[in-house]
Amino acid sequence: MILLSSTQASEMLNQFQHGTQSRTSLDLGKTETVVSLREGYVRLSGEARVSLDDLRVIANCDDAVFAVGECTVEKVIRFSNATRRMYKLRPTADWPALEISSILMHRIKGTTPRRDAEAKLRLVSPVHGAVLDTCMGLGYTAILAASTADSVTVIEKDENVLQMAQLNPHSQPIFQNPKITLIHGDATQIVSDFGNATFDIVNHDPPTMSIAGELYAETFYAELLRILKPGGKLLHYTGAPGSRCRRIDVHAGVARRLARVGFAGIHNDRETFCVVAARPGRRLERQKENKASGIDPSSTSRGFPIEGAALDHDLH
Ligand SMILES: C[S@@+](CC[C@H](N)C(=O)[O-])C[C@H]1O[C@@H](n2cnc3c(N)ncnc32)[C@H](O)[C@@H]1O
Repeated sequence: MILLSSTQASEMLNQFQHGTQSRTSLDLGKTETVVSLREGYVRLSGEARVSLDDLRVIANCDDAVFAVGECTVEKVIRFSNATRRMYKLRPTADWPALEISSILMHRIKGTTPRRDAEAKLRLVSPVHGAVLDTCMGLGYTAILAASTADSVTVIEKDENVLQMAQLNPHSQPIFQNPKITLIHGDATQIVSDFGNATFDIVNHDPPTMSIAGELYAETFYAELLRILKPGGKLLHYTGAPGSRCRRIDVHAGVARRLARVGFAGIHNDRETFCVVAARPGRRLERQKENKASGIDPSSTSRGFPIEGAALDHDLH
């Protein structure tokens, strides 16, 4: 499928002022190709073509991606009767963002979806071993994680999102990379299928709490703790610390619930609006068990204070 945004349309219009050929991208910057202008139409690939008038319309539209066919030019927007939601790809300086009923699923203010996904993963680097990505979206964090991890399991609940990912050139590794396993389902149910201590890293990037409260619940966090290996890390996007959901401080509430179910080393990253936490290492878990069963921690080898939020170096 040929996809164009205002960037490529403007590029072509500029170049056609000086000749009949233009070097541009037909897949939102993934690859480049040369197209030619003949009789008022730009011949793109095969039978697909676009008129100069349509190209001007695309060039003037900053917030939509256009799919071009043999005789069609249409915005990549879908409405689902089942969810009563609108799904749209929105162009950015690099990979497109996803909008669901006008709510952005990627950060684009002061960053791009690609740079944001890279910054998030740096918080839990090195990204090695088995990774779970609970909320796929366009799959950017899962795709980047798969470049260094041994395996990535990624879950997406909404089949309309899966369809948008299928259209998006930058999501293709989700369907092609053998290291990535895609599960279509609800993360709150799928997680119970995973065994204890399965994953080294869990990336949890849910929609806002107001539309997916179950993904911020203590019961769900307890499952994430269970399926992480001791010392394994949780990367949880929570949104801007100042943002409020029905007057609740989302970030503080997340940190409190994570601590309550047993996560340690909980801290907040101001750049990416993520909370990072870890499942305590075996040593700390043993000490907690000993404390619960009344055994004096100082009698165990190398005892140290047992706190909900252990120091990072105590986590492994
Ligand atoms: C913010 S986006 C994730 C963006 C993703 N990290 C990326 O790199 O593109 C959140 C996604 O979670 C999905 N989602 C919402 N509830 C879910 C659930 N219960 N289980 C799995 N996915 C869910 C939404 O459909 C949406 O696509």
